[in-house]
Amino acid sequence: MRRLRKNEPMRSLLRETALRVEDLVYPLFVIEGKRIREPVASLPGIHRLSPDMILPEIDEVVSLGIQAVLLFGIPAAKDPLGTGGYRADGVVQQAIQAIKRHCPGLVVITDVCLCEYTSHGHCGVVRDKEVLNDPTLELLAKIAVSHARAGADVVAPSDMMDGRIKAIRSGLDEAGFETTPIMSYAAKFSSAFYGPFREAAQSAPAFGDRRSYQMDPANRREALREVLLDIEEGADIVMVKPALAYLDILREVRDRCLHPLAAYNVSGEYAMVKAAAQQGWIDGRQVMMEILLAIKRAGADLIITYFAKEAAHLLRQG
Ligand code: PBG
Repeated sequence: MRRLRKNEPMRSLLRETALRVEDLVYPLFVIEGKRIREPVASLPGIHRLSPDMILPEIDEVVSLGIQAVLLFGIPAAKDPLGTGGYRADGVVQQAIQAIKRHCPGLVVITDVCLCEYTSHGHCGVVRDKEVLNDPTLELLAKIAVSHARAGADVVAPSDMMDGRIKAIRSGLDEAGFETTPIMSYAAKFSSAFYGPFREAAQSAPAFGDRRSYQMDPANRREALREVLLDIEEGADIVMVKPALAYLDILREVRDRCLHPLAAYNVSGEYAMVKAAAQQGWIDGRQVMMEILLAIKRAGADLIITYFAKEAAHLLRQG
């Protein structure tokens, strides 16, 4: 086998998987207010930005050749029904408009969920400490439509309610957004790897956990059922999340369906690499590239990652 590993030209000739800048999606946290650029302690290099502060970041992203961003909103006020999620002048809606005005060619994807907007921090309507499924669907569709109306190119529901893709598809179609695609967080596991995100987005649940709606990490077949159901309901792109501890799921989905597949290299995966690199225990850049390549090799077409800018830098240097 070593004949073919002799030198770098030979190795690159035979390399089976390539990571491209175009594969990367950069997540952004938009916080309501003005002139805010707050670092997120557990995600070194990542900031919460107010809509007026987002454009320099967008310029940087675009100059690196990154094609898409994924927006998360952090509203000034929260309520039990998360009404801030579908206000026409909500924080994400403002950001979408500013970005699309500034840079119409950048693909703007928006996270559609209630947890950042609800006072209890759950991804749905709560009654007697229970997260209700069907009453949540209507609100999710409203959020998706308001994002599309503000100019979002793709909406990405991350709540894990049953039937939400169908509800969002109908909502979009009825409102005249039949050309807006849905990227579904189809197999989203209930994961401790989301810890730093919840700090960044101020969206930790006030009571209980998300195990009654997000998936059990032990379940592989169920992940496939989730993906196939979302496809049936009209998802255009399906996602597996987290990525690193779920590469088998990515592979399985890749082998079983033909839809574009996204992987979310989540906050905890990023934080672990950053923390170990800061200690000098690993080479952070090399580990980053190895992880992103592994996600690609497992079958992902798109990778949503806090590493997008750093990886793009390295990929452009060649
Ligand atoms: C919202 C949402 C979460 C993430 C993306 N969308 C958090 C959660 O479900 O608690 C996590 C992303 C990350 O950890 O980077 N539902």
